[in-house]
Amino acid sequence: MTQRDELAAILPITAADDAHGRLTIGGCALADVADAAGTPALVIDEAGLRATAREYLRAFRSRRAGTNVYFASKALSCSAVIAVMADEGLGCDVSSAGELAVALAGGMPAERILMHGNAKRDVDLRAALDAGVGLIVIDSLDELARLQRVLGARRADGPQRVLLRVNPGVAAPTHAAMATGDESSKFGLGIDALRTAMSEIEASARLTFGGLHVHIGSQITELAPFIQSVTALGDAGLDVGPVVDLGGGLGVRYTLDDPPGPSIDQYAEAMVAAADQALPAAASTLFEPGRSLVARAMVTLYRVVSVKRSTRTFVSVDGGMADNLEPMMYGTRFAPFVLDSDRPAERCDVVGPHCETGDRLVEHWPLAGPRVDDLLVVPMTGAYCYALANNYNGALRPPVVMCRDGAARIVQRRETIDDLLARNCDLALPLQSTAAGDG
Ligand code: LLP
Repeated sequence: MTQRDELAAILPITAADDAHGRLTIGGCALADVADAAGTPALVIDEAGLRATAREYLRAFRSRRAGTNVYFASKALSCSAVIAVMADEGLGCDVSSAGELAVALAGGMPAERILMHGNAKRDVDLRAALDAGVGLIVIDSLDELARLQRVLGARRADGPQRVLLRVNPGVAAPTHAAMATGDESSKFGLGIDALRTAMSEIEASARLTFGGLHVHIGSQITELAPFIQSVTALGDAGLDVGPVVDLGGGLGVRYTLDDPPGPSIDQYAEAMVAAADQALPAAASTLFEPGRSLVARAMVTLYRVVSVKRSTRTFVSVDGGMADNLEPMMYGTRFAPFVLDSDRPAERCDVVGPHCETGDRLVEHWPLAGPRVDDLLVVPMTGAYCYALANNYNGALRPPVVMCRDGAARIVQRRETIDDLLARNCDLALPLQSTAAGDG
């Protein structure tokens, strides 16, 4: 088996060699994409994205009819990606007015959008109400009061359907920053608060109780905690309502060293079995996968800028912690490789251009004889890499290129220096006390 054959498990599903032995995704040679779009570049396999979206819907609907799958758009907030999800029949979740705008620009119908988040501001709630989103997830009693106040200031549109986020008291085996279901988490309501919230909703003419929501965390590769979270909802002795949102969180494999973990089908099997047992048959279930829906469909392309051999071999590329914070924030290990090279491998540290030692994409990783100007491919970057991209050291956020059937489209252009400067200004800020003349 060649290295490429083995890598197939973590490359986008359409990855294949062309007649010249060059790696292609969606029928486009990555070398050509890098030449045309520049680097760093984020390349999406549109067919792969669609296939995983369909796999999610089929896995759940074949087992529990009427289940809905909403893409957790925070994983890859990009209108062109949302457009694909909408086209495949999924909905999406958003956590702010900003993510909502991106989703609406992607053509996601508002009734298939759900807004959650633990600290939604008036501007987020107003944007959700203006758009007419299908569901708003309430995460605290203060937020319920805030929503009532925001609603009160508006002309009466129809009652807003809300879900209540439950803290199920389930500790998920994942990085502490991504565990959201145990009692120490800032997310969700305990039993007493849930009961209070339910009676407040019942008493309100402007709100309808849509059901319960639970999400225990992200990059979880064991099924047991997911099952526990469903059981916890059933055991709470509450009216679960017409919709039960069982969250997202299924983990993915970043390198071939990671064990495969449960498939989408195995996850659906376990979740539906748990839901069938713990929840009323009439409750319609909803899932919000992010990472497992998009991670594999994207690769990042970098150009090698320098190769420095000292105590280690440092391969510096033209991107790093500005376009992929996962290694720095969560210790995620990626599996880069030199594009179209069969030179002998040597252990390298792949580092970015940023002014700190922590700007390291991977340590001690075998690369096939990297040289200046080689292209480096990093598989499995679809989730939370673009979403967390930033301008550290004046970095320009990379373009997103969608490849399908041999055609490549830029769906998000590279940022420019003009973009970086676009908000520079010198505006007088009117302060209340100055305006009142008592300053
Ligand atoms: N639903 C809710 C309420 C969430 O907060 C999240 C993710 C999801 C669904 C989707 O979870 P997924 O299927 O993607 O695991 N910044 C971290 C990831 C944080 C996850 C945030 N919530 C990272 O870069 O890996």
